[in-house]
Amino acid sequence: HPMVFPSSRVHFPKTSRRLPQALIIGVRKCGTRALLEMLYLHPRIQKAGGEVHFFDRDENYLKGLDWYRKKMPHSFRGQITIEKSPSYFVSPEVPERVRAMNASIKLLLIVREPVTRAISDYTQLRSHAATAILPLAESSAPGSGYGAKLPTPKSLYAKLHAAHEYDNALGSGAGAKETLTGSRALGAAARRAAIGTTTPTPTPSAAQLAAKSFEELAIFPNGTVNEAYRPLSISMYHMHLHRWLEVFPREQLLVVNGDRLIEDPLSQLKRIEAFLGIEHRVRSEHFYFNETKGFYCLRYDNGDRCLRETKGRKHPHVDPVVVSRLRKFFAEYNQRFYELVGEDLGWPE
Ligand code: A3P
Repeated sequence: HPMVFPSSRVHFPKTSRRLPQALIIGVRKCGTRALLEMLYLHPRIQKAGGEVHFFDRDENYLKGLDWYRKKMPHSFRGQITIEKSPSYFVSPEVPERVRAMNASIKLLLIVREPVTRAISDYTQLRSHAATAILPLAESSAPGSGYGAKLPTPKSLYAKLHAAHEYDNALGSGAGAKETLTGSRALGAAARRAAIGTTTPTPTPSAAQLAAKSFEELAIFPNGTVNEAYRPLSISMYHMHLHRWLEVFPREQLLVVNGDRLIEDPLSQLKRIEAFLGIEHRVRSEHFYFNETKGFYCLRYDNGDRCLRETKGRKHPHVDPVVVSRLRKFFAEYNQRFYELVGEDLGWPE
């Protein structure tokens, strides 16, 4: 007889890749990355590294649940696996697909005051448009063979516009490779989409000059709000949330206050621990305020980490008249959102 070890005595770590039991579904630019990294302070939480985009991209969804599961980290039984893909929130086909996988999954939705979110979104899109151009500009030093003829402002604008559109279509910002230290996948993709291969190169300052202001993009010359502008339509939270609440009961979704997560992360994390049914383990010692960054950074067992510099960007100055015009515009939508979630978030009108 071969020797057989009783399995109760031999204890190898029992880890496996499991489908997520909780999802951060959005909203982009509201602190989705910060939220995931903060939750990861908790010993019961495992997180997927990048944004998986399983439910919102057909080419991924068609690969099936086993493909999705293999994108997940190893976890112990009793741990909770979490994935975040902020574009889930705004993609109509996603709620039903999530339910088909797990009807009792827990959903985390992080929101910020909608106009701030829109400006943050604009800031990110603009920075992607700029990086779509900058690397080529650097290679266009005299004698490099590039940049022999400068583009007209018109062609330059077309490229910047293309970069904006591309970002909008993708809807997920820095995208799949976004981590604490991750690379910028979209930079290269947007660059290809925006510039093609043979186009000559503008200087960075020209690129900056050609970018449209938030004010121009958000408000038409006749004074009406450009509701179709993606940074604004994504901020119409009630529209998107409505679809989710047709599929999931309200209790299965927690609304996290992204503005408070910046100021006082612990208050939000306590709510989330309770919602996920895990013991209270994230503590104030896990956070320290970094004056240079202007945000809290995180203290893990194996060291201190801040989010990358793409998190916590300086926003451009926006004309206060435009800000208050937009706040008025959103007031009604915000009310509808409060009604849906059953809570007044107190956003300024
Ligand atoms: P800004 O860059 O506009 O300030 P997302 O990860 O969903 O793209 O959200 C990015 C936002 O997370 C940032 O927007 C920032 O305000 C917010 N954030 C919240 N807590 C943060 C933290 N501790 N460090 C950096 N950014 C944080």
